[in-house]
Amino acid sequence: MGNKHQLSSTTKPSKTTRMMMKRGAASASVALLATIVVLLCGLAVAQQCVTCPDQSKCCGGEICCKDGNSYGCCPAGGTCCNDTCCDNTQSCCEGTCCEKQTTFCCPKLSPHPARCCPRWTVCCPGGQDGCCTPFEAQAYMAQPFTKMHLKEDSVKAGSKVIYALFNEVSTVKAVTIDAETGKILANKKVEGFNNWGEMTRLFTYDESRNLFYYMEANFLSDTLPRPLYLYTVDPVTGQATKKTVQGANNFPSGYTYSCTLDAIVLGTEKLDGSGNRVGYLYYTVDPTTAVATKKSESSFQGEDDYAGWFHAVSVNGSLALRQGYKNVVEESVSGLGVTSLSSPTTAVQWYYTQAAASHNFYETLNPIADGVFLSLAQQSVGNHSYDLLKWSPGGVGRVVASLGNSHPVPFFGYVASQLNCKRSTLLTATVEAHAPAILNDRWVIGVFDVSSSSFRQLDIDPKLPAEETSVSGLGVIVDAPST
Ligand SMILES: *[C@@H]1O[C@H](CO)[C@@H](O)[C@H](O)[C@H]1NC(C)=O
Ligand SMILES: *[C@@H]1O[C@H](CO)[C@@H](O)[C@H](O)[C@H]1NC(C)=O
Ligand SMILES: *[C@@H]1O[C@H](CO)[C@@H](O)[C@H](O)[C@H]1NC(C)=O
Repeated sequence: MGNKHQLSSTTKPSKTTRMMMKRGAASASVALLATIVVLLCGLAVAQQCVTCPDQSKCCGGEICCKDGNSYGCCPAGGTCCNDTCCDNTQSCCEGTCCEKQTTFCCPKLSPHPARCCPRWTVCCPGGQDGCCTPFEAQAYMAQPFTKMHLKEDSVKAGSKVIYALFNEVSTVKAVTIDAETGKILANKKVEGFNNWGEMTRLFTYDESRNLFYYMEANFLSDTLPRPLYLYTVDPVTGQATKKTVQGANNFPSGYTYSCTLDAIVLGTEKLDGSGNRVGYLYYTVDPTTAVATKKSESSFQGEDDYAGWFHAVSVNGSLALRQGYKNVVEESVSGLGVTSLSSPTTAVQWYYTQAAASHNFYETLNPIADGVFLSLAQQSVGNHSYDLLKWSPGGVGRVVASLGNSHPVPFFGYVASQLNCKRSTLLTATVEAHAPAILNDRWVIGVFDVSSSSFRQLDIDPKLPAEETSVSGLGVIVDAPST
């Protein structure tokens, strides 16, 4: 398994402090004193204590967890996880705590130890981390990352700008980039969206409203069906709003905004009465009201076909498209999965397609016409930089632009490409390598003109370090609104 098709994981060191258990060191006299104080205050019930096997005590609903040779206290609602303690937002994964909302446990599977994989990935033996992304044949390892340092400037109404979302530790930032110079004009923390300290999957972009959308089911509770939420991020203000989707629920396997339908096309996992995954349900969602309208459903023909894990639709919005591997876990059989959403029941059709000569398989997918796509693919020879290719299922891809010094994210996250609604301009977000490697790698935006095939690059200024940030959403060139 080559490095290029690998996939991501999260587990941020930022979480380790939360996982640490409070030592249950309360000595008998301190406990006694505390008990007296509490009794005096008449709050005896709230302070009930339990005695751990090593005679230390945990109080107020805390539980005893083994911590080396002694015991520590784990907060109320938490669980002991070998020598650590997971709080009530985490699950125990063979000694590691996973954020329930954004990750799940992949048990130890050689060569990978037990690990937390993002919910939009599947456990696999490949990759650096053993988490494979069904809708994008690439992603990378999680690493420590620190703050991005961005200037805040003024945005002139009517000037050409690009809005993008970038992840940094525990926050998502909405960044406004000058489409001519690459200068960062504004940088706002997204308020009202919790990334749980993890990287996110890509937000989809709605050009007509200049909004980013993200969908997430509630995994903090085990109750089925899981409520499904639509987050809307206004990149101008950085404000996120959350709505509960009406008419659809459970895990959103894929979603993308369709310009033609002016709606979000959504795929969710279909579950049977016992909560087992048996297929997919497809909807359109009104981005303003969050009301979902069912379009179609499919059932697995034996194995999971991953058809619901799309993040592109055909130009007319009636086909869900997933490029990548048919066999996600084995990372084999490249091509395009096409699922028609225009009949009540549907099934995926797989179009086996080889990577273009001297390239790895297509990593992004932007339909420019019926059955014609623009995709980023990395060269499999030479310096492994990215090219933009035009291709059709079963056909041979052709390079339409070379991105020059352009690479995947050194540690974690995805590369991105976004086509505008007119299908005239495509933007890319990739990483440019600078010495010393990794330390100075930075994000760059590419601007591709579809009719002339001209390509130019914007060096984001100030530098957006690729070792510390990952792209979370990419817009198109728009006129800045007046604020
Ligand atoms: C958890 O603890 C058990 C029993 O002590 C041990 O066998 C196992 O290897 C531990 N797992 C991890 C991931 O530390
Ligand atoms: C949408 O386009 C696809 C080809 O990309 C075509 O097969 C299908 O019939 C079209 N559907 C509608 C409703 O126009
Ligand atoms: C990699 O090769 C391409 C041509 O295939 C070239 O345009 C680009 O500048 C090269 N990048 C580096 C970092 O040398």
